[in-house]
Amino acid sequence: MLRMKKLIVANWKMNPKTLSEAVSLARKTGVVKKGAGELVICPPYPFLSGVQKVLNGAALGAQDMSENTEGPHTGEVSAGILKSVGVSYVILGHSERRSELGENDEAVNGKVLQALKAGLRVVLCIGEPIEIRKKGLPSASSFVKKQLLGCVAGIEKLGLKKKNLILAYEPVWAISTSKNRRNETPDDAAFMASLIKTIVREKFYFTPRVLYGGSVGEKDVRDFVSQKEVDGTLVGAASLRASEFRLLMGKVFE
Ligand code: PGA
Repeated sequence: MLRMKKLIVANWKMNPKTLSEAVSLARKTGVVKKGAGELVICPPYPFLSGVQKVLNGAALGAQDMSENTEGPHTGEVSAGILKSVGVSYVILGHSERRSELGENDEAVNGKVLQALKAGLRVVLCIGEPIEIRKKGLPSASSFVKKQLLGCVAGIEKLGLKKKNLILAYEPVWAISTSKNRRNETPDDAAFMASLIKTIVREKFYFTPRVLYGGSVGEKDVRDFVSQKEVDGTLVGAASLRASEFRLLMGKVFE
């Protein structure tokens, strides 16, 4: 059976410090051979154009966008603006935005709808906090189901291109910068990925790609992406370490 090519999304967050460092990192890591797999680099907004110029086989992604299309929204960036500078993917609903800026499912839903309408590919992050996971996988499952359905409400009205909705399961407690971080197990990540696929299939009649994210590095990436339910990975910290990231890519795209 032909296996689907895996997807890697590099979430640089608010890094690196300067445009020249960003361009240099993109030159080293934004390179992928045609047909090997799909790679998306998501730098901070001001670095998008500089990074885009040096990408070689990788697509350009943004880390957020506005739920509005235009107008008096100081500091915001719309889906249309992103498209016009060559962005094709956007990460939405990241747990850092939910916790630092109070983004709730309703706000994320507004962004998801706008992004899909504009034809961007959405990488929608969902995942439970530690208090929920401590109660066990059934509690985590119901939390994630509610969050997911809240964030994608109304997408059936858009005549959605199936490949434009990608989910990223990121348990908040497994992200590299979270306090008292813990490791997710590949088996549990696969269980949650499978659950997410079932929820979307039952509600919207298609099976989305699901990534796993949370401290994934060169050493353990294979354990996650070798799970058949996991279609790739969303990588934060390790995407800033060029040599490690290249090794990681080698393992995912092998
Ligand atoms: P991490 O970040 O790989 O540094 O844990 C992943 C993310 O937050 O998207």
